[in-house]
Amino acid sequence: MRDSAEIDRASLHLANGALVAFPTETVYGLGANALDDTAIARIFEAKGRPRFNPLIVHVPDTSAALDHVVFDRRADAFASAFWPGPLTLVLPRRADCRLSHLVSAGLPSCAVRVPAHPLALALLEACGLPLAAPSANRSGTISPTLAAHVRASLGEKVDMVLDGGPCPLGLESTILDLSTPTATILRPGAITREALESVLEQPVFCLEPSGQDEETAPRSPGRLLSHYAPRATVRLNARDDSIQPGELLLGFGEGHGATLNLSPTGDLREAAANLFAALHCLDDLGADSIAVSPIPDTGLGRAINDRLRRAAAPR
Ligand code: TXA
Ligand code: MG
Repeated sequence: MRDSAEIDRASLHLANGALVAFPTETVYGLGANALDDTAIARIFEAKGRPRFNPLIVHVPDTSAALDHVVFDRRADAFASAFWPGPLTLVLPRRADCRLSHLVSAGLPSCAVRVPAHPLALALLEACGLPLAAPSANRSGTISPTLAAHVRASLGEKVDMVLDGGPCPLGLESTILDLSTPTATILRPGAITREALESVLEQPVFCLEPSGQDEETAPRSPGRLLSHYAPRATVRLNARDDSIQPGELLLGFGEGHGATLNLSPTGDLREAAANLFAALHCLDDLGADSIAVSPIPDTGLGRAINDRLRRAAAPR
């Protein structure tokens, strides 16, 4: 089978400290052996990423996560409800944790998740290594939801790209900080606050996107305000009849004159899956500015608006 030969080749690369991009249900990840400092340093170099930004470690199941981080009752409940799936848990590193300190950027915590993509799980099982994997794009640019996006952004800096077609969710995982007594969403994603609260039966807090002060003291540096930036500038909450010359409209729901529509039926899940590919595409069409129709700020819409606000932030 083509996939299993590819997975063997990818495992060999990873064991040798190389970088392998692989599909997850959210976006493509740029994977490296999380036990190997040199391999992790190569991720930062390939992405052009500031050293202070820690990485998510991917494992095949909860028991593999327990090798590295300390679970409490809340973590047990979230892992059984949502893993494999688009939820990242930030938890204290174990005293005997062997993960590279670079993946934690020196913090006493580590972000872990079990991805729900068959190729990602097959790779994690075959290589037998925890894989650090940020989104497989140059730092500050749009996350990749196709293998072609990875190649276009990272070129020869990545040793191998496993092609699993388009990522089904298209938005990065929800990041939930459980390293303190207050469960706090550091990055909204496909698992909504409401879904988390229904498992915890307690309020879950959400860090609202804030201004520049996060640049100096980031709690989750992926929250840097300008982070998901296409080449074109981005204008939010645009009305169909307000489009300027040089501007292309990214629509949502019914309406007219959109160059692309995230979801003509107004389906937030479909819109999330299409978001990054649509921004890539409008950039490729040479837009000076991308005008985006309003997106309802509920459920998954909150994660979409979070990414759009960052795309529109001053650079
Ligand atoms: O869906 C996803 O999460 C994708 C796929 C590939 O799994 N990965 C991803 O990784 O989005 P990345 O590196 O682009 O985003 C990781 C985020 C960053 O915002 C980082 O600051 C935060 O996780 N993070 C990682 N470790 C952390 C820690 N110990 N404490 C707080 N935030 C952490
Ligand atoms: Mg990223």
